[in-house]
Amino acid sequence: MRQQIAAANWKMNLTYQQGEALLDAILKENIALADHQHAVFAVPFPYLIMAHNKLKGAKNFAAAAQNCSDKKSGAYTGEISVEMLQSINIKYCVLGHSERREYFSEFNQALAHKTTLCLEAGITPIFCCGESLSIREVGAQEGFVEAQLKESLFHFSEDEIRRIVIAYEPIWAIGTGKTASTEQAQEMHAHIRSLLRSKYSEATADTIPILYGGSVKAGNAKELFSCPDVDGGLVGGASLVAADFVQIINSLK
Ligand code: PGA
Repeated sequence: MRQQIAAANWKMNLTYQQGEALLDAILKENIALADHQHAVFAVPFPYLIMAHNKLKGAKNFAAAAQNCSDKKSGAYTGEISVEMLQSINIKYCVLGHSERREYFSEFNQALAHKTTLCLEAGITPIFCCGESLSIREVGAQEGFVEAQLKESLFHFSEDEIRRIVIAYEPIWAIGTGKTASTEQAQEMHAHIRSLLRSKYSEATADTIPILYGGSVKAGNAKELFSCPDVDGGLVGGASLVAADFVQIINSLK
């Protein structure tokens, strides 16, 4: 059975103490995840050890980094390497979030490199893709997302690609309260899966989790996650409220 993931993306929000309280409130619910279900929390770097320590006792709960450096190590002031994440047992890393692409000039090539480094370190990349509103308005979203995946991911072997999680996040739906309709989400997810099928194989396309991101809320998660090709969500705003994110985790199929 394909893995399903409810992933929180805290972005640059919450103090350390607020982050601790949020995780405590979620863990208090004792959510029982099935073997194929996962709850992942992409927290700010200084909170990773705390989050990892809190989450490691709960089955299929894990902490994630929100980014990593495309350099292995060395004189890169302010950067965080994959080796550093590995050394504190972090198992997931979000890569290529649209905010990183827009504000920190992350391009497909550097993202390909970051993905390689994560895979080498046994860290699962949660690789984000998605189009802007202007691209959606001219109907060019499928080609745009295809180019993102081809330039960053499609040189990987079948074994490697199977260790990647893809998150489709239409930029026009992020933080805007405007969610893609279930039809729009399903259509793009099916498209991504068909690209994986033609490039790799049916089995590989069936294995890779594809998450939806962009204004996922407690009230719409169940409907979105019920789409056949939507395997969970990457959640910003609603992941900052314990009750909301608990409901989102409970919306996994
Ligand atoms: P949002 O953010 O849920 O606040 O729209 C999603 C994301 O950016 O991952």
